[in-house]
Amino acid sequence: MKVWDIYTRLWHWLLVCGIFFQWLSAEILDDQMQNHALMGYTLLGMMIFRLCWGFIGPEAIRFSRFVPSWHTLTHYVSSSNKHIHVSHNPLGALAVIAFIGLITMQAISGFFMDDEIFFTGPLYNWLSASTTSLIAEVHDIAFTGILLLIAIHIIAVIYHRFKYEPFIITAMVSGNKPLANPYPTLATFQLHLRAWFCIGLSILIVWLMVNHLPDWLGVEAAFY
Ligand code: HEM
Ligand code: HEM
Repeated sequence: MKVWDIYTRLWHWLLVCGIFFQWLSAEILDDQMQNHALMGYTLLGMMIFRLCWGFIGPEAIRFSRFVPSWHTLTHYVSSSNKHIHVSHNPLGALAVIAFIGLITMQAISGFFMDDEIFFTGPLYNWLSASTTSLIAEVHDIAFTGILLLIAIHIIAVIYHRFKYEPFIITAMVSGNKPLANPYPTLATFQLHLRAWFCIGLSILIVWLMVNHLPDWLGVEAAFY
């Protein structure tokens, strides 16, 4: 059965490329701050898309299907015989939420950054200098958190690949898992309509945040 729809799969692999580019553009390459910011806005939009998709997307991707209760989580962790989940397992669900939270925090803190040369984020001049430098610390520390989570995520996926679900990685490419479908499916038209609604909404929110929020907050443009 199809578990991961095309939008979720594209989202996942674009996310991998985007995070890699953010590291490359901030830590390795020179003169890439403009592109770093553009990719940061894109990643913020992708997080908004995923939040929206988690409510109106296909069943397997909905938060209501995979976010565990405390009881489900502790039962899953303590059980020695872990059964295969069609959507994310309870620990995987925690990782999904942590990824969305951390990447959103990273992207929003970027709005307050400057590179001490040419580039200033759109909200750089909004708060006091000490608060802004604290937020810059968040931009640094949250990325360490993201890297740690990526390491745990990849180890967990590989572990599941060999121990429980040989198809777990290919499923993020093809979308299919050889399991019975317990969920009602979305008609193709509905899938695309809902996805483009989420995409449009994310673009609108990010566009407003980048282009109009500074004006609304009365932020002075920074000049060097
Ligand atoms: C920058 C690196 C990565 C990030 C930030 C990341 C993030 C994520 C996120 C957020 C999800 C949840 C998808 C959703 O619900 O929409 C996910 C799922 C998944 N990721 Fe990654 N991922 C990364 C790298 C990888 C790599 C390298 C692999 C392959 C080895 C991989 C394999 C998977 C698989 C198989 C799932 C589905 C897990 C399941 O069936 O529960 N990821 N990833
Ligand atoms: C999820 C999105 C983002 C990721 C993963 C990310 C990642 C990073 C990393 C790893 C660094 C280096 C940390 C350090 O040197 O302290 C950095 C620095 C920086 N980021 Fe981001 N960033 C993101 C979004 C943004 C956004 C949206 C902006 C601006 C609007 C931005 C602006 C900056 C600036 C100005 C620096 C400082 C570079 C320097 O010191 O030369 N970032 N970012």
